[in-house]
Amino acid sequence: MSGLTVDLSRNGNVRNVDSHCTLSGVDELDFSKLLERERPRPLNMDRQRSFDERSINELSIGVSPRLTTRPENTSRFIDHLDSVYSPGKRSGLNTPRSSSDFETHPIVAEAWEALRRSLVYFRGQPVGTIAALDNSEEKFNYDQVFVRDFIPSALAFLMNGEPEIVKNFILKTLRLQSWEKKIDRFQLGEGVMPASFKVLHDPVRNNETLIADFGESAIGRVAPVDSGFWWIILLRAYTKSTGDISLAEMPECQKGMRLILSLCLSEGFDTFPTLLCADGCCMIDRRMGVYGYPMEIQALFFMALRCAMLLLKQDEEGKEFVERIAKRLHALSFHMRSYFWIDLKQLNDIYRYKTEEYSHTAVNKFNVIPDSLPEWIFDFMPTHGGYFIGNVSPARMDFRWFCLGNCVAILSSLATPEQSMAIMDLIESRWEELVGEMPLKVCYPAIESHEWRIITGCDPKNTRWSYHNGGSWPVLLWLLTAACIKTGRPQIARRAIELAENRLLKDNWPEYYDGKLGRYIGKQARKFQTWSVAGYLVAKMMLEDPSHLGMVSLEEDKQMKPLLKRSNSWTF
Ligand code: GLC
Repeated sequence: MSGLTVDLSRNGNVRNVDSHCTLSGVDELDFSKLLERERPRPLNMDRQRSFDERSINELSIGVSPRLTTRPENTSRFIDHLDSVYSPGKRSGLNTPRSSSDFETHPIVAEAWEALRRSLVYFRGQPVGTIAALDNSEEKFNYDQVFVRDFIPSALAFLMNGEPEIVKNFILKTLRLQSWEKKIDRFQLGEGVMPASFKVLHDPVRNNETLIADFGESAIGRVAPVDSGFWWIILLRAYTKSTGDISLAEMPECQKGMRLILSLCLSEGFDTFPTLLCADGCCMIDRRMGVYGYPMEIQALFFMALRCAMLLLKQDEEGKEFVERIAKRLHALSFHMRSYFWIDLKQLNDIYRYKTEEYSHTAVNKFNVIPDSLPEWIFDFMPTHGGYFIGNVSPARMDFRWFCLGNCVAILSSLATPEQSMAIMDLIESRWEELVGEMPLKVCYPAIESHEWRIITGCDPKNTRWSYHNGGSWPVLLWLLTAACIKTGRPQIARRAIELAENRLLKDNWPEYYDGKLGRYIGKQARKFQTWSVAGYLVAKMMLEDPSHLGMVSLEEDKQMKPLLKRSNSWTF
């Protein structure tokens, strides 16, 4: 296992600490302390600055060998931090910002051109990027601006010193949120953000209007639960990158956030702090057995709550939400770290579970039947490593690996430092399965035969090792890279980017690849898929300048980690 280790836990070598979470021993976050510490001012840039300097110092010790060996890079690093916090304007709107090899890198230059070609304008202003510029096939809805697809584009533009388009996108989608949304006769929640929108040109009247899809046109008619979370996460990335707090502080933005939060913090019959969802409510937007409590949504939920906590004003309305968020974060982190986490020890515990236990003393709380453990998990589980599984609900654990949720868990610090390291260990030891010839598998393994029939409803697009069913999605590169930088293991990202570089441009930036190793361009993959382009650019820019990580990463605050209730100690 190679890799530079960063002492994230301040306990010595993180891989030797005996703090892996099990059902009986979990690090709990005390979010009430976070509340006290963070809330007096809405978004204190000075404090953020020193916070970042601290994490950047840590990074420069452990993360990038180039930073420690090349002093000129170090100073650029610090210079960049300055520009991050003073919203000074950069020129070069048509070229990648950074200097040297990066700018002249042929694939990078081509990628920028492709990204700029995908820009969508509304009344003269850029407001987003189209999902795919592929004219060869039927478009379906790939000619729209998807909220989730725009995230890597937005990050690329922010990293390149072009925040305007991001601001426009945030404001336009906010306006769309206030639309009345109906499916047949049923009215959707006020806070629902659109999955996508499109600009309509009326040549007769010579004007432009927007149309949006909140799920009422989507295949399956499912509302995008992830859109609102990504919107909040992007608002924080914009604020962090530009230093411009005025956007987040606008009453409209504050209200938009509160409406999103109202949807997911409302009281009901829930017995878990996780969010109950329909199938197809996120990146995997078709029936794939992710209904229930999908990991992707829980990780985004956690991250969005933490971002909202930083962005919400402490006025009368905001204060109430901040208190509710703090309580939910506390419960959510405990639940996820306890019940979604799996490693060799946890797997062995489940394998030996007793069933039909009643009352508070139950160990097997959800009555998971050991016979339901799938065969593949026993070989897949490495000696060192672990991950958050796909879903947990009564008598149901979906053991599949989902890439997006695990990377977001690292970035949001939903994963403890030890868990983050364990996820990276897993990626390294299961490289062939999770990366193969083209990064990265959206989930692992594929479902086939009878299981595929039952779970997908015989979906011909989601056949085994294709599309959402074990397909490889280049867009996930940016999330992997960010997670690698955060955990001090950039060489893993470098390896993955090299693999992608060999093919992406040649293959015209496909949406996804098929096959166990991701060797084939996907059966129905669109070409010139914008988030494949943008994901690559963001990965490259982040490796080149790791200080960009701050836009999409939240540190675990040492002060909010008070209770270490570890009843059993063991190493993996
Ligand atoms: C597909 C993907 C979805 C994406 C959309 C646009 O429907 O499943 O995640 O947002 O295409 O690219």
